[in-house]
Amino acid sequence: MGVATLQEARTASTAERPRTGQTARLVLDGKTYELPIVVGTENEKAIDTSQLRAETGYITLDNGFGNTGACQSRITFIDGEKGILRYRGIPIEELAEKSTFTETAHLIMYGELPTKTQLERFSKRLNCSSLIHEDMLHFFTGFPKDAHPMAILTTVVASLSAFYPVPEQLDEPAEEQVIANLMSQIRTIAAFSYKKSIGEPIVYPSNKLRFVENFLTMMFSSPVKDYHLDPDIVRAVDVFFLLHADHEQNCSTSTVRLAGSSLGNIYAVVSAGICALWGKLHGGANQEVVNMLQYIRRNGCSPEEFVARAKDKKERLMGFGHRVYRTFDPRARIIKQICHKLLNKRGVSDPCFDIALKLEEIALKDDYFLSRHLYPNVDFYSGLILKAAGFPTNMFTVLFAIGRMPGWLAQWREMHHDPGFKIARPRQIYQGPTLRHYVPVSERV
Ligand code: SDX
Repeated sequence: MGVATLQEARTASTAERPRTGQTARLVLDGKTYELPIVVGTENEKAIDTSQLRAETGYITLDNGFGNTGACQSRITFIDGEKGILRYRGIPIEELAEKSTFTETAHLIMYGELPTKTQLERFSKRLNCSSLIHEDMLHFFTGFPKDAHPMAILTTVVASLSAFYPVPEQLDEPAEEQVIANLMSQIRTIAAFSYKKSIGEPIVYPSNKLRFVENFLTMMFSSPVKDYHLDPDIVRAVDVFFLLHADHEQNCSTSTVRLAGSSLGNIYAVVSAGICALWGKLHGGANQEVVNMLQYIRRNGCSPEEFVARAKDKKERLMGFGHRVYRTFDPRARIIKQICHKLLNKRGVSDPCFDIALKLEEIALKDDYFLSRHLYPNVDFYSGLILKAAGFPTNMFTVLFAIGRMPGWLAQWREMHHDPGFKIARPRQIYQGPTLRHYVPVSERV
C-alpha cells in the first residue's frame, strides 16, 4: 500500500521542480546577479537564494520567516488572501463534508484518496497499532495529578523511542509502521493520561471501533457506567481532527522538519513538534480562547470591554489573527457551523458560544481588527466543540496534536524522500561585541 505513491514521492522531488528560466536581478556593490525564480503549481513565486551567499557574500534576513520559503511541498496549499486551504489539491470544505479523518490522513500521507481496500488496510493497521507497551503505564503514575496533559504527551511520545526502536534504515514497511504507531498511540496516550488524571481505570482500545469512536470510548467509558457514542459528537470530533490534519509550514510542522533534518529519532522529532504546538500563540490558543470566554463570562467583563482592552494591547483576542490568513480561516467557518449544529441539536446553549459570536461581531466591525487583517482562526471556535463533547479544557491542545499528527508525519516523510534533502541550518547576522580579549578577574572593575 502506498508503493506507487511512495515511488512517485521519491522520484518527483520537490527540489527538482522545473525552473521557469525567469530570474530576479540583484545589483550589489556594483555587480549584477541573476537569481532563479521558482514558480509553484498555484503560481506562487519565490526567488531561489540557495546560492546567494556563495555568489554575493550576503544572506537574507527575515524575522519570523514571514517571507521565507523553507521548502517546496506537494501536500497542502494555502492562499491566505483568499482563505483557501486544500490538502493535495482537494478543498478543505469538501473533505470536511464528505471525508473522514482516517481517509484524509491517507490522502495527506500518500497523496491520493485511498481505494476501499487501501482504506480498510490503513484503518486496520491503525487499530492494530493502538496499544502501548504495558511497561509504559508506569509513566502515568509518575506525573503529579495536575500535570498538564501536553507535558505528559510530549514525554510519553518521546519515550516510545525506547520501547519501539526505529531501524537505522527506514524501509517502507518500517516507515509505515512508525506512521501507524504515532497516529494511533498518541490517541491512546492522551486517553490514558486523562483517565489517570481523574483516578479512573484506563480503558483499552478496541479493534472493533473506528478511530474516533475508539478514542471517545477510551476517554469517557467506564466499567461501571454505560457510554453511548453520540453520532453527532463522533462526527464533530472526526471533522475537528480532519481540519487540523495539516497546515503547511506552521510553527510545529517547521519544528518537525527542522528536528527531523538531523535524522533524529522520529518519536523524539514528533515530541519536539508537540512542544512547539503547546505554545499559546500556536496550538495552545484553543485552550486560551475558552479560558478567555470563561473569564469574560465570570468576571462580568462585557465583550465590548474586552475588545477595547485588546485594542489597547492589555489583552490578546485569542483565536483571532493568523500569520498567513488575511481573511477568515476557512476552518473557522466550518467549525462555527458545527458549533451551531451541535448546540442546537443538543438543545443546549453555551454562554461561551454566545460570547464568542458577540466578540466576532464586534471585532469584525472594528477597524483595529480589519485594518490588521485579524479574523477568527481555527482556534476561535474549536474549543467549543471539544467543550460540548465533554473534553476538559486542558486537553484541547492534545486533541490538536492528535489531529496534526498526519501532517507532521507527511511533511517529515516528504522531506526524507526528497533527494535534495539536507540538514537545516539557518544563518544569522551577528550584532555582538567585536574582537576583545580575556581579562583576569583581578583586573576587572
Ligand atoms: C494556529 O501558522 C499556522 O498555520 C498556525 C495554525 C495551524 O493550523 O498550524 O493555523 C494554528 O496557531 C492559529 C493561531 C492561533 N493563535 C492565536 O489565536 C493567538 C492570538 N493571535 C496572535 O497572537 C497573532 O495573531 C498570531 C500569533 C496568530 C499571528 O501573529 P503575527 O502575524 O506575527 O501578527 P503580529 O503579532 O505581528 O501582530 C500584528 C498586529 C499587532 O498590532 P500593531 O503592532 O500593528 O499595533 O496585530 C495585533 C498586534 O498587536 N494583533 C492582535 C492579535 N493578533 C495580532 N491584537 C489583538 N488580538 C490578537 N489576537
